[in-house]
Amino acid sequence: MAQSTAHADNITMSGGGVYSLATIGAKDVIDRAMPRVLSAIDSMRAARLQEHVHWTFSDMGCADGGTSLDLWRTVINHLRDNDARDIQIIYADQANNDFNALVKILHGLTEFDAYLPQFENVRVLESGASFYTSILPANSLDLGFSATAMHWLSTLPCRLSEHVHMVGAVGGERETFAVQAAKDWQEILLQRAREMRPGAKLVLVNFCIDEEGRHLGHTGGVNMFERFNANWQSLLDQGTIDADEYHAMTLPQYYNTVEEFSAPLLDPASEVYASGLRLSDIETAIVSCPFAEDFKKHGDAARFAKAYLPTIRTWNESTFAGALKPERSSEDRAELIEHYYGLYENQVAADPTGHGMDYVHAYMTIEKI
Ligand SMILES: C[S@@+](CC[C@H](N)C(=O)[O-])C[C@H]1O[C@@H](n2cnc3c(N)ncnc32)[C@H](O)[C@@H]1O
Repeated sequence: MAQSTAHADNITMSGGGVYSLATIGAKDVIDRAMPRVLSAIDSMRAARLQEHVHWTFSDMGCADGGTSLDLWRTVINHLRDNDARDIQIIYADQANNDFNALVKILHGLTEFDAYLPQFENVRVLESGASFYTSILPANSLDLGFSATAMHWLSTLPCRLSEHVHMVGAVGGERETFAVQAAKDWQEILLQRAREMRPGAKLVLVNFCIDEEGRHLGHTGGVNMFERFNANWQSLLDQGTIDADEYHAMTLPQYYNTVEEFSAPLLDPASEVYASGLRLSDIETAIVSCPFAEDFKKHGDAARFAKAYLPTIRTWNESTFAGALKPERSSEDRAELIEHYYGLYENQVAADPTGHGMDYVHAYMTIEKI
């Protein structure tokens, strides 16, 4: 097993609003959760109307907030039918997130259609607290939401010797990732259990490995993670990077199965179950890669390749760049990273068949009794 580096620092999304502009698919994933979120709110509404407290929602791992604007606008409109109570939404992400972009997007200073100017008595707060820690005071949260974020582990459990991602890991290395992921999932849930009021809900939309073994970028066509690895390996074979740099590139991510997500919520002996959390519902769903869908209409392979690569770069460029030796100059680094993604872009342009980053998620609702 390769040596662990025990860090998960190099995982920032692209800043300056680039994240939301390049990730139309992530917005589609969130939009698909709307009925689930509204139904979670409806199930609490009657009880909450008896109380004179404001609504408190959280959006954990929000990045620049652009992809969930429509979700929260829909939620607020839905509540405003018969409920004028104050609403506060806590947007939380890691402290190194681009909070400037978040604040500007939320407050209507960009081309995104902000909801804040449209409503009274709605407040947003921005928090740099990780979802592995406490974000809110105890017993204060009504609905916690998170999309496409909780696959980031709290720490890298080990470097993978022959792959860049756990989906390609085998044997002891795969098991090491699974153990870390189970610990992390438990921590995320216990932190939320403390924050949630009785009757509160979590709607979590997390990457998963589905019942047929499919996952992000692997739904029947070209396996995106195999491409990442083969191209990174080719840089090693050509001597462009060295063995340390090849091995330093392990994404600190884990995609749980439905069983792994469900286990602590169904086991009466678990700490999570004892905390009062119960799984109300879980289902998996695939949201098609919008760039591959677009390609079906326009048929221009070069255009597809150019549009597709930025969505990949938003979430893994910082990790690939972080694997390069610090003694490299910034020009050398930038050139190498351009070259790396250029390889993939050229491959898609040369033969676009089967390329695309379909999203594979588990959508779940969890209640605190
Ligand atoms: C792919 S983006 C998802 C953004 C948005 N929720 C969406 O679905 O479009 C993942 C986000 O999770 C954040 N993230 C990763 N680990 C985190 C942690 N421990 N606590 C809070 N946010 C985290 C990243 O910084 C990033 O902004």
